[in-house]
Amino acid sequence: MNVHDSEKMAGILKAGGYAEAANTEDADLIIFNTCSIRQKAEQKFRSELGRIKLLKSKNPLLKIAVAGCIAQQRGRDILKRSPHVDYVFGPQNIHKLSAMLTTNAMVCIEDNPEIQHTDLPAERKENIKAWVSIMYGCNNFCSYCIVPYTRGRERSRPSQNMYKEIHELAEKGFKEVTLLGQNVNSYNSDTNFPGLLRKIDTIKEVERIRFVTSHPRDLSDELILCIKELPKTCEHIHLPLQSGSGRILKLMNRGYTYEDYLEKVRKLKESIPHIAITTDLIAGFPSETDNDHSMTIKALRSIEFDGIFAFKFSPRQGTKAAEMEGSINEEIKSQRLNEILGLQDDITLRKNEALKGTLQEVLVEGASKKDKGKITGRTRTNKIVNFEGDESLIGKLVNVEIRMAMRHSLEGRLTSQS
Ligand code: 5AD
Ligand code: SF4
Repeated sequence: MNVHDSEKMAGILKAGGYAEAANTEDADLIIFNTCSIRQKAEQKFRSELGRIKLLKSKNPLLKIAVAGCIAQQRGRDILKRSPHVDYVFGPQNIHKLSAMLTTNAMVCIEDNPEIQHTDLPAERKENIKAWVSIMYGCNNFCSYCIVPYTRGRERSRPSQNMYKEIHELAEKGFKEVTLLGQNVNSYNSDTNFPGLLRKIDTIKEVERIRFVTSHPRDLSDELILCIKELPKTCEHIHLPLQSGSGRILKLMNRGYTYEDYLEKVRKLKESIPHIAITTDLIAGFPSETDNDHSMTIKALRSIEFDGIFAFKFSPRQGTKAAEMEGSINEEIKSQRLNEILGLQDDITLRKNEALKGTLQEVLVEGASKKDKGKITGRTRTNKIVNFEGDESLIGKLVNVEIRMAMRHSLEGRLTSQS
């Protein structure tokens, strides 16, 4: 989401006559698009912001802006703590960037009730895959999460706006779009999310449609049918579980039990046997016992995700979980996280190995960075495949036979252009 927000900022700046500087030292404007989902992201930003201070004495024209969720949360405080900052604006005020830059200093952190109608010109670096926002904000208030406070209430863009944006992307040669929202399953405008997918699936030049993120509670049978039926909608779902313990899920305010989640997974696999399912997990949520943790381990073993993102719980100021009793010490958090990651490594490898000998449709994205002479792309299930082939295939769908499996990628042999 932040990457795409940055693309929107770049789009606005380009339209305003700005050009990208070759390096930080040459820039007259530096924007930090910050993330506050976990403490670590915030720390990184603080140290970068400190480092950049020196540049201001070298270039008196330099302006520094802080955008994103930290800007939204801390607001004017950032200007107080870091007087070398000129502008502070939150994720709901990106559209004000141009106007803001005509002033000397400004803080823009108010809600934008019309955010769903604000179309911004995104400047995308890639030319094959594109992010497209379908909704903003979140109403879920999971007890650990800062997003509803920084990105505000849930608002969905009218389907016509995405239809138009994706048409334009297709005309420019983009082949894949990823629909973006904190909880795409609760997309609700002139149609619901399955309705939106059906509409976008008709855009001829688009080859693939992906979406993130799905909330398990709102995953409907109708959506499962869409993934199964729609030719362009890819067979991959990112479905954050967060914990395998029902007690912890309740404390997290996730709105489903572990059994509810398993039932959704069962339906997905029954309907689409080759679907890839990935997830997010949090280790060391307040009051998490060894037993709760072992339920997460058990969940990993029985669901066998294709991949996971796992994090240590990080208390975020202003959220309910930050005030909860039973905080877990960092060492135990790390132990639990390592156990989760270690186990999943084996599972990911095993799942990848099971693909050996199969034929996979790959959208070629470019030259392989690691392997000179090879090209790289992804399967419909979002797995990276490297294989020998000509760079003229970039942007095309090809069939690749999988020969070798590693943890983070597959290797294959080109069989035909599909
Ligand atoms: N601590 C740790 N992980 C978190 N996430 C969100 N908030 C926190 C937090 N306070 C994780 C969740 C979410 C992902 C985007 O980040 O797993 O799904
Ligand atoms: Fe945060 Fe929960 Fe909303 Fe996801 S669904 S953004 S975890 S509050």
